[in-house]
Amino acid sequence: MTEQLLKVKVHKRQLQGDGVAVIDLVSINGMPLPAFDAGAHVDLHIEPGLVRQYSLCSAPADTQVYRLGILKDPASRGGSVKVHETLIENAEVTISVPRNLFPLAPDAQRSILVGGGIGITPMIAMAYSLQAQGKSFELHYCARSRGHCAFLDELQNAVFAGSVFTHFDDAPETRLDLASVLGQGNDGVHVYTCGPAGFMDWVIATASQQGYSDDHIHREFFQVEVDNTGGAFEVVAAASGKTVQVAEGQTILEALGTVGIKIEVSCEQGVCGTCMCDVLEGEPDHRDVYFTDEEKRANDQILVCCSRAKSKRLVLDI
Ligand code: FES
Repeated sequence: MTEQLLKVKVHKRQLQGDGVAVIDLVSINGMPLPAFDAGAHVDLHIEPGLVRQYSLCSAPADTQVYRLGILKDPASRGGSVKVHETLIENAEVTISVPRNLFPLAPDAQRSILVGGGIGITPMIAMAYSLQAQGKSFELHYCARSRGHCAFLDELQNAVFAGSVFTHFDDAPETRLDLASVLGQGNDGVHVYTCGPAGFMDWVIATASQQGYSDDHIHREFFQVEVDNTGGAFEVVAAASGKTVQVAEGQTILEALGTVGIKIEVSCEQGVCGTCMCDVLEGEPDHRDVYFTDEEKRANDQILVCCSRAKSKRLVLDI
C-alpha cells in the first residue's frame, strides 16, 4: 500500500486562542479536494523525515478546503513548531489524502462529542456532518480558559451553535458534569473524545461507569504508548540478505539498525505509516493504530517502529 500524496497550498492562516494556527489548505489548481468523512486526518509532510498527523476540522461537505488547527507545542518533538514557522499563506505543502481512523458510527441516534483543548478539531467536522445529516448531537468543548480556545467564533456562529457547550477550568460555573451529560449508556448513544491522554482516559472511564459499552466509546489516537512487551523472534530482510534477532523490549526498527538497515520513520508510535514494510512470510503482531482492522487481518504489511511478530520468524521485503 503506497500512501497517496497531494500537493496543496495555504490559502489562509489565522492565529487563534493560545498558539493555535488555523490553516486553510486548498488545491494548487483550484480543483476540488478529495472528499473526506468526519473524524479523518491528513499526514502533513513538513520536511523529509518529518510527518505529522492533523485532524480535518472543516465541514466534510466542503471539498474546496481542508482546515487544520495546529497548536504550537514547544515541548513536542518539533513538528508543530516547524509547521508554525513554515506554513504561511501561499506556502505549498505535501499531504496525504484523508484517512479516517475515527469515524462516526452510522447507526448512532445521538452522539456526544467531548473535545479537550486542541482535541476539538475532529469534533468540529463531526458536528458539521451530524448537523447535515439531521442527527442529534451535543458538542462539549473543554479548555483551560476562554482565552486558550481557538474556533470559538466559528462554533458560536455555526448553524449548530445551540448544540455547543463550552467548559473552562478557570470558570467553575461552566464545569462539565460529564456523568449527567452522558446519562445512562444505551444502544442508540455513542460518545467520542479527543484531547490530552488523561482527558480522554477520564471521558472513557466515566462513559464506562455510566454503562456505555466499549464499541459505543470512540477515541482519537494521536499520542500512543508503544507496547514493546513480548518474546524474541527472528526477522529476515529478504532483499538485503540479512537476518536479525529482535529481543524482548526491542523494536524491529532497532534490531534492523544493528545490521545497518535503515528504515525511514517519523512518529515512531505506529500512527503515521512511514515505516511500513511488506511482509513476505510470517504473522505480524500489529501494535499500531494506523492500519484498519481489515488491513491488519491481511497481514501483508507491518509498521516496524512498533509492531512485533506472532510467528517465530517474519520475512520482510526490505
Ligand atoms: S514511524 Fe510512524 S508508524 Fe512507524
